[in-house]
Amino acid sequence: MITIYPTEPSHGDDINALLDRSFGPGRLARTAERLRETNVPLAGLSFIACNADGALLGSISYWPVRLGTTPGLLLGPLAVDSTVRGQGVGVQLMEASLACIEPTRFAFVVLVGDLDYYARAGFRIAAPEVHLPGPVDPVRLLVRADDAIYTHLSGTVRPAPDLC
Ligand SMILES: CC(C)(COP(=O)(O)OP(=O)(O)OC[C@H]1O[C@@H](n2cnc3c(N)ncnc32)[C@H](O)[C@@H]1OP(=O)(O)O)[C@@H](O)C(=O)NCCC(=O)NCCS
Repeated sequence: MITIYPTEPSHGDDINALLDRSFGPGRLARTAERLRETNVPLAGLSFIACNADGALLGSISYWPVRLGTTPGLLLGPLAVDSTVRGQGVGVQLMEASLACIEPTRFAFVVLVGDLDYYARAGFRIAAPEVHLPGPVDPVRLLVRADDAIYTHLSGTVRPAPDLC
């Protein structure tokens, strides 16, 4: 049985080990990391998935960002332990956390990932006017927002730790 819990500081080492295993040693060189390195994860939106023994099976976090003056969130990293992939843990983590986002506070969610995976949660490819502070494959730059917001998003996503 999988249970979702809010992330606590004591989970940090286990989460880092999971991220190292999932993304490899180059994970901190990725462009999305430029939005995290000077930022603070949103405490109420970081979750872990554990099995009945309390072992960490997955983790998700969100980081406050802005596009122009529009407040939003960067989703990620999302990682699931390789021993339990394909069993719905990632989707559970995504659904549980996305349901907690107040759209009046954060108008969009952006991430770098596979559209085939994230489309089920309402993500679509970002408009060409949307950039991250570094190179990203444009078909992997994804956004989740209402149509009215989506069509007006443009510029470079910047960290916004003041929104925490
Ligand atoms: C991507 C990841 C988080 C998915 O977690 P998961 O728990 O295995 O996913 P779920 O079991 O919730 O979802 C499984 C479904 O997603 C699909 N899926 C998984 N990874 C996918 C991908 N990269 N692209 C497209 N579809 C994918 C599976 O085929 C399956 O589809 P189905 O429901 O139609 O059978 C996990 O594979 C992982 O940690 N990968 C390494 C780190 C990573 O790449 N993270 C995402 C960075 S954006």
